[in-house]
Amino acid sequence: MKICLIGSGYVGLVTGACFSDVGHQVICVDNNATKVQQLQAGHIPIYEPGLEALVKKNVAEGRLRFTVSIEDGVDQSQVIFIAVPTPPQPDGSVDLRFIEGVAREIAAVMKSYKIVVDKSTVPVQTGEKVAETISRYNKAKVDFDVVSNPEFLREGSAIGDLMNPDRIVIGVNNERPVAAMKEVYEPFKAPIIVTDINSAELIKHAANSFLALKISYINALSIICEMAGADVEQVADGMGADKRIGRQFLNAGLGYGGSCFPKDLSAFIHIADELGYEFDLLKEVEKINCLQKERFIKKIRETLWILTDKKIGVLGLSFKPNTDDIRSSAAIEVVQALIKEGAKISVYDPKAMAKTREILPNLNYCENPYDVADGSEALIILTEWDEFRSLDIGRIKNLMVNPIILDGRNIFSPKVMESAGFIYKSIGR
Ligand code: UGA
Repeated sequence: MKICLIGSGYVGLVTGACFSDVGHQVICVDNNATKVQQLQAGHIPIYEPGLEALVKKNVAEGRLRFTVSIEDGVDQSQVIFIAVPTPPQPDGSVDLRFIEGVAREIAAVMKSYKIVVDKSTVPVQTGEKVAETISRYNKAKVDFDVVSNPEFLREGSAIGDLMNPDRIVIGVNNERPVAAMKEVYEPFKAPIIVTDINSAELIKHAANSFLALKISYINALSIICEMAGADVEQVADGMGADKRIGRQFLNAGLGYGGSCFPKDLSAFIHIADELGYEFDLLKEVEKINCLQKERFIKKIRETLWILTDKKIGVLGLSFKPNTDDIRSSAAIEVVQALIKEGAKISVYDPKAMAKTREILPNLNYCENPYDVADGSEALIILTEWDEFRSLDIGRIKNLMVNPIILDGRNIFSPKVMESAGFIYKSIGR
């Protein structure tokens, strides 16, 4: 299939790379000329395991190319995916100006029948507006179909998620684009769910909100576990073994962050509100997510008492492992709270230090976890990178002023840490 992706951000780039790798002919469009040049030269602006190799391979084999020209992309493709940002506005609603802009541009250059697919996360009923916009601005009155095809990939495991999806959702308002969409996804051998456009759009917000709800549920349980003397990991294992519940997304910790869940939850609350329903359940999910960070900071304060001028070591900055993304990262929020209280912070993160330096230039950035531990009064774990799980705990202990670890991601066993001589505090156990 000849495919164009408009927007070479996270979703557009990973999707473009994977589509080309399964044999489609792909053009990725971006309005940032510098980025396009970098991508053409094989430089990937984000860290995502496997992405650079995949892009280089498919560029070299002639199935993937990059351009700044929407006209070029649209002319040469049957299916046009819109994968531009849909950022939040101060009131929680979604800013759809990029979607509208791209719809207008497609309309202006479209000379023959095209399938225009929305892949960006958008509020329900956006497809209707996109169709209206294209009709309005396509003076040649060329035929087209709008499709909603939400993306479910996670940062850090984006390629695996895209190559082996649980399901593909295709939202259409007539049968015409279905065959072509099935052809696009045929190589992925995944179940395809065909719905109407509004339902497909809702599936995305509903799925992300449900996952966030699962996280807040286990985090609320972690509070009860601490009060009752139970272990949240054991509770999660016991609950999660029920196939109807499942163990995934039942890891208690500092709460969810990233560029999707916080934004999608406020958007969904806002969308429901506009439609006339007050989504109090999701408001509570957000409240628990904030509380989790506040409780952890309180725990640090209770353990260390005065934080002013104390040397505190921090492990982890990204919003989750295997990414350099620090957007809405719980780790960053905790670090900012510690800075506010006057702590002297040394940090290490395998990938997210460069991005953190841009917003917090005055931290002591270390080359490894041992340098962080050296002379620290306490070590705080904020992101569960595998590298931290396999630390030489004895060496860490010898380097620290006090053997105190506060673990916001439950990466160690309390028993093991206590028998190693640490004062070890984690979440919900
Ligand atoms: C999420 C969804 O999982 C994807 O399906 C979706 O496509 C994506 O948003 C999106 O809308 O684009 P992502 O934000 O990359 O993916 O990351 P997740 O792996 O879902 O983690 C989100 C947050 O939840 C992280 O901060 C993570 O630390 C936290 N989390 C996750 C927990 O606190 N506990 C868990 O058990 C699982």
